[in-house]
Formats: sequence, C-alpha cells, structure tokens
Amino acid sequence: MAVGIFDSGLGGLTVLDAAQKRLPEMEFLYFADSAHAPYGVRDADDIHDLTQTAVRALWDRGVDLVILACNTASAAALRRMQEGGLPPGKRVLGVFVPLIEALTERQWGDNSPPREVAVQHVALFATPATVASRAFQRELAFRAIGVDVEAQACGGVVDAIEEGDMILAEALVRSHVDALKRKMPDPQAAVLGCTHYPLMADVFQDALGAHVRVFSQADLVADSLADYLTRHPDMLGSGDAGFLTTGNARKVSDRATQFLRRRIAFDPA
Ligand code: DGL
Repeated sequence: MAVGIFDSGLGGLTVLDAAQKRLPEMEFLYFADSAHAPYGVRDADDIHDLTQTAVRALWDRGVDLVILACNTASAAALRRMQEGGLPPGKRVLGVFVPLIEALTERQWGDNSPPREVAVQHVALFATPATVASRAFQRELAFRAIGVDVEAQACGGVVDAIEEGDMILAEALVRSHVDALKRKMPDPQAAVLGCTHYPLMADVFQDALGAHVRVFSQADLVADSLADYLTRHPDMLGSGDAGFLTTGNARKVSDRATQFLRRRIAFDPA
C-alpha cells in the first residue's frame, strides 16, 4: 500500500520527507521525471503531457492517490487532468490549495466564500511556468479578498539544485529576492511556490529578512494529506513503496541522498 508522490525531479523529496515524518506508518512511491526536468521552462501542453504520463505510471503500479509535489505540474496540468476525467478509484491532488488555506488561515477543505485576511502583501517565488499560469492568484482569489501578490519567476534555481550546485542556487535566490524587492519593497509574507525551494529556505529567509513570514509547502501538504487520508482511508492503494526516476538512477540517488542526508536508492522508472 503506497501513496504516490510525483515531481519533475528532487524537489518533491521535501514533501516526501515531511509526509514520512507526519505519517510514519505510511508507505510512499516517489516518481522523479528527472529526464525531463526542469518543467518550469516548458509550455503548459508539454507539462500536462509529461505529468499525465508519470501519473499513469504510478497508477499502473497500483497507486490510487498521487500527490503532485510540484507546483509547476499542479499549475499547468492538474485542473486539465481532473476535468478530462480520472480512471475509477484514482485521484490526483496538487500542492497549491494546502498552501493557500494556510496563508488565508482556513481549516483544511474550508470552501466558504472569500474574505479579508491578515496578510495583504505577498511575495510569490516560483518557476516561470507557475508564474505565467497565474494559478496561485486564481486559487487565492477563491479564498481571500484584497491580497496584493507580486510574483517573481526564479529562472535557473531548479536547474542549479538538480545539478547539486548550491553555490549557484544561493546566488540566484539572492538575485531573485532583490528583483522582487524592487517591485514590492516590504512583503509581509513570502510563498516558496516550488517544492525545490525549501532546500534553499534559509537563504530565502536571510535575503528577505527575519520579519517576513516564509510559507514553505512541505509540512502544510503533509498535514493536509494526513487530514485527507483520515477522511478517505480507502485511497491507500496497493502499490509497493520505492523511488523511481526517468533519469540516471545512480546520479539521482546520490543527489537525493545528499539532500535528505539518508541513503535513498532510485530505480529506473
Ligand atoms: N518542484 C517543481 C515545482 O514545485 C519544480 C519544477 C521544475 O521542474 O521546474 O514547481
């Protein structure tokens, strides 16, 4: 019995790690589409097709519930996949909604009309494709009124992290925060809208300043998954746990081991 966790590459490991801590009895099958990462520079059709192929591969292995631990896939593919109809008994969930529910101080799954919230100036850091989709602003508008969002497309950061070049990743994060501050000098909150970015959370926080509340998805998604599984205990599926990649399994395993600081062994998808 395993829940599927999908990302274009290693970023979803931040969600997996939080989910394993939150649900220690639960098994997970992680899928990294490393051969096609990064997704954030691709167009929406391409992201949709790649995401659908990966999610079907997880379903074919007996997984019933797949978490898209990738904002870019959640922004570009999730709605289209859901509207296109899912196979009976299969579900796919994204990572935007738990984040926005936390930002707008809602209970998980609270679908009441939008209302005024405490935070008014929000910086969004995400991939170019996520920023272009405006999915974050759309989901936010369903839940809150009067929130000013300034988005910064963080080109290059995902590539640097996937290559393990954390010096370049840090330099890029600092320059993207500078660029954001030129547009919004005083954000109250910042959203790390890419699951790779928690690996650079300290750098974001340092560059933004201690007074800015940084929202990072991993723990929020883990909490909302725990809540979902309490309400849908039938979604545990029958697949085996493990790690799959479309890329070079040895290289991906080494990077994953470096990020999670425990031995992770990927198999070819
Ligand atoms: N972790 C993915 C996300 O949350 C990265 C996307 C990419 O591959 O560019 O958006």
